[in-house]
Amino acid sequence: MMDLHGPWQALGIMIGLYTFFLGWSRFTAQHLGSGRAFKFKRHVFFGQAACLMLIAGAMGGLILARIAWRGWLITGLHGYLGVGLAFILALVFTTGKMMTKKLKKRKALPLLHGSLGFLAMLGCLAQAVSGWQVSQDFLAGF
Ligand code: HEM
Ligand code: HEM
Repeated sequence: MMDLHGPWQALGIMIGLYTFFLGWSRFTAQHLGSGRAFKFKRHVFFGQAACLMLIAGAMGGLILARIAWRGWLITGLHGYLGVGLAFILALVFTTGKMMTKKLKKRKALPLLHGSLGFLAMLGCLAQAVSGWQVSQDFLAGF
């Protein structure tokens, strides 16, 4: 059970990074004038999958840590950043949904959505490093 959260989140991060690169081609087309096409449906599909997987994975991590150590946020930085990231990912998801509900030309909302997505992915990469550390420090014997 304790081995589940890491690989799950690692898969979520890979899907999230792929989504980011799909979004990046939208960003360069909109703001830097490059002519690359935006794979809209694919971005939305994988973006939803990544957000939901990572948020569910953060909750799973909390629950597994609680079961194993009978406490909340025992891992320190990994736990705090993880909960913060779940909120940021919920914002990425919500702003994305707002844009797909009604398609029109926008500037500010895509920028906010894309910046939050970028921030979320940076944070998730940091989580992979600290999460690996947590598994080395805490999970010996589980
Ligand atoms: C890991 C999750 C995600 C990341 C990293 C991400 C990243 C990005 C980036 C970088 C852009 C380009 C922004 C710009 O042009 O300034 C973008 C655009 C967009 N994203 Fe996402 N996104 C994610 C999830 C989602 C989800 C879940 C949805 C919908 C449910 C969504 C819908 C859209 C739409 C519709 C646009 C185009 C907006 C426009 O130019 O009008 N994204 N995204
Ligand atoms: C490859 C990446 C990751 C690895 C190897 C990893 C590893 C771990 C480990 C070993 C734990 C201890 C409990 C358990 O095993 O479930 C944990 C807990 C946790 N993880 Fe991760 N993690 C990763 C990514 C993430 C990400 C991306 C998030 C958030 C979006 C996250 C959020 C959390 C939270 C909230 C906890 C509970 C911590 C606590 O209560 O102190 N993790 N993680």
